[in-house]
Amino acid sequence: MNPIPENKIHCRDALRFTEGMPSESVDLVICDGPYGVTTHEWDQVANIQEFNLGLIERFSRVMKPGAALYLFGKCDCVDFVDYRPFLDLATKIVWYQPSRLAQGRRSYTNNYDIICYFTKGRVDQFNLDDIRVAQLVELEHRRRCENVPSVKNGRYGKTAFNEKGKNPGDVWGDIKQLTYKSKELLSRELLNTVQKPEKLIERLVRASSSEGDLVYDPFCGSGTVPAVCTRLNRRFVACEQNPEYAKIARQRIKATAKAERQLSLL
Ligand SMILES: C[S@@+](CC[C@H](N)C(=O)[O-])C[C@H]1O[C@@H](n2cnc3c(N)ncnc32)[C@H](O)[C@@H]1O
Repeated sequence: MNPIPENKIHCRDALRFTEGMPSESVDLVICDGPYGVTTHEWDQVANIQEFNLGLIERFSRVMKPGAALYLFGKCDCVDFVDYRPFLDLATKIVWYQPSRLAQGRRSYTNNYDIICYFTKGRVDQFNLDDIRVAQLVELEHRRRCENVPSVKNGRYGKTAFNEKGKNPGDVWGDIKQLTYKSKELLSRELLNTVQKPEKLIERLVRASSSEGDLVYDPFCGSGTVPAVCTRLNRRFVACEQNPEYAKIARQRIKATAKAERQLSLL
């Protein structure tokens, strides 16, 4: 199988495209595809769990041993299907969005998306120091806590705070969804269901890849993953079936690369 041209947006169907990729070739997959909940034509999937299982099987073949997959969806996006023959589910990250508008009166407003964090066997890289976030405790409270012993390996010891910040955990409320006022929003049409904030994608890319690694984005939409990869010196392979979105993504990558070149000249 020939290697797939890198740092390009391929205007293709993601399932067929993935089947044409060489085995064990990618370091990270970021999959923000159909959720099966909106009225978009691209989101019409008969059974989202079966669809995701098919993706997981295909991705596991192209992932290197130890690589990670982040799969976006709603709360039940991988329920009732057995993905264990293909990948290990390390955790489900909750991307919490408190400011979502109220939806209906028959249930609770949905205030989060899920990002399933899968690994192919024992994970190869988790760059915690690159994704640490500020400690949420006030200085005074923190000093008091430092005098409270905590248990480590069965022994009491002084509570230690890492000056570089803490692990972001698996509930992320610190990254806001884009709004129509966001500078990075490319068009109103891409709001909510399509374009993701770069900050969110950046955390995934930094945590699970290094410079020069190959990142695969099968459903690239407006090109957030390729743009972040360009900025962070990762190689990427991206796929998008809608020619209009593919065009937007290509323009975005060009603009990002140009901005990076200008920055490097400063
Ligand atoms: C949630 S959006 C991705 C948004 C992207 N992460 C961004 O920030 O712009 C999902 C995208 O998947 C595309 N898509 C859906 N089914 C596809 C398929 N079978 N093959 C390729 N692209 C597909 C849609 O056109 C849509 O742009």
